Amino acid sequence: MDARRHKVIFDTDPGVDDAMALYFALAHPDIEVIGITTTFGNVSVEQAASNALYLTHIAGFEIPVTQGIAAPLTIPPPVPPAHIHGADGLGNLPERLPVPAALDPRSSAQFIVDMARAQPGEITLVAVGPLGNLSLALALEPGLPHLLREVILMGGTVQEPGNVSPVAEANIANDPHAAADVFAAPWKLTMVGLDVTHRVILPLALFKEIADKQQHIATSTLHHAVAFYADFYSGLYPHVAQIHGCFGHDVLAFLYLVQPELFGLARGRISVITQGVEQGQTLLHSGELQGASATYRQAANRFSQVCMQVDADACKQTLEETLLGNWLA
Ligand code: BDR
Ligand code: CA
Repeated sequence: MDARRHKVIFDTDPGVDDAMALYFALAHPDIEVIGITTTFGNVSVEQAASNALYLTHIAGFEIPVTQGIAAPLTIPPPVPPAHIHGADGLGNLPERLPVPAALDPRSSAQFIVDMARAQPGEITLVAVGPLGNLSLALALEPGLPHLLREVILMGGTVQEPGNVSPVAEANIANDPHAAADVFAAPWKLTMVGLDVTHRVILPLALFKEIADKQQHIATSTLHHAVAFYADFYSGLYPHVAQIHGCFGHDVLAFLYLVQPELFGLARGRISVITQGVEQGQTLLHSGELQGASATYRQAANRFSQVCMQVDADACKQTLEETLLGNWLA
């Protein structure tokens, strides 16, 4: 395999920024998306799977798509945020082309396990929705952390205020028990949370430029979806309204994959609060557990990496150059 090319399973709830992330991954020469696993979150899991099939089909790609977990492991299901992503998750598209492709019949968790067993050590899992599929995959195959190359997830926050409560980020809050399972597992894990995604504001004009220069149904669909999303974020944050833009959230996970040098990292154990008013909060403990008993150390979560700083201008430039590249049929 080309050493620079990352084989990726993309776990997602598309979702406008998920669509942006998917197209970045499809467009980037160093990323090969070998499967898309879907979850509830921004929309129902049925809609998420349908959106993943649609987005790949109109861009001219044939990639296996699975339908995954439909609800959180323990807490009641959240109401999908139609005011952020549209009722269809893609900014309420006025029409859709028919899609001949069908779903892969496996569950998302089974697909992840099958692919990881077939290509041990080669696959990176990029997860940008609630983490139930990963939790179920761990239950099916406890050795999964040693079969995957690494996990990069968009979710959580350390210092930045939350986006669904003063302390919690949406993907973690939507299934805190699943997130707790994922942070406890012994994989190489990097968290790309609001500490960096709130630093990267993408102007709607960027997506208009891409749709104008690269005239294609995929780029016009993305422009339509981002316009809806940018209206929401510009209505919420005055500094985002100034440039009429939105946060890139999920695409930052892929930017970290291909250009980790654009990010500043902290290391530590991440725990998740699963109940009470702080439900969904991610806490970073950076100490080495000196003085803790061996039993405690074994039970404590493994070290993860957390993105705390980002070169926002360089991220925007890579996003623009990648989406303006030669990736559409
Ligand atoms: C995350 O929540 C979802 O709404 C977005 O798609 C992103 O994954 C941001 O908090
Ligand atoms: Ca998402």
